[in-house]
Amino acid sequence: MAKKKKSSKKSSSKKEKIRAKKVSSAPKEEIKRELKISAIGEGTVIDHIPTDATFKVAEILDLENHQGVVSIATNLQSKRIGKKGIIKVGGKSLTQAEVNKIAIVAPDATVNIIKNYDVKEKIKVKTPEVIDNVVKCSNPVCITNNEQIATKFYVVRKDPLKIKCHYCERSMGKEDIEII
Ligand code: CTP
Ligand code: ZN
Repeated sequence: MAKKKKSSKKSSSKKEKIRAKKVSSAPKEEIKRELKISAIGEGTVIDHIPTDATFKVAEILDLENHQGVVSIATNLQSKRIGKKGIIKVGGKSLTQAEVNKIAIVAPDATVNIIKNYDVKEKIKVKTPEVIDNVVKCSNPVCITNNEQIATKFYVVRKDPLKIKCHYCERSMGKEDIEII
């Protein structure tokens, strides 16, 4: 049935007022207080991400360009780490290089491999001793920023993360870390 649009408003006034559309403010009974992110059939769930690293993990995995389902949630309550982020990626399995990168920004993360709706494998990421070609050195005069040389850092402390450049010996903390 085609409804005829009523154009009842007469354009009597030339004054154009921007008026907010009225939205019912009364909470509907049926609105659930808590919504859980849907389970995925095939893919990867990265869980227990520190909240401040959630979007970094999304960037590492280049999820902006992923064609499958991507659900990102952050500031969720976690018994283990206070607040956490979680990322569900349909139809994607991670490479070892991607897992290694995640370990640098999210040392407590768990990578769950999902097959046919079941958790087939649960990988606890591990902060490496040496970080090769993943992090950019924050020292502008470091050789790695001026020549075609892969960066290399030694992990001095795991939590909170502290790393040291192999070339210029610059120490960097979590907040200085920029993933290449
Ligand atoms: N998950 C999912 N889709 C599935 C199966 C699991 O999105 N088909 C998600 C769950 O929501 C959870 C994560 O994958 O966030 C790991 O699942 P599971 O091991 O069942 O949960 P927990 O026991 O809570 O995991 P952990 O012990 O690592 O906290
Ligand atoms: Zn350096």
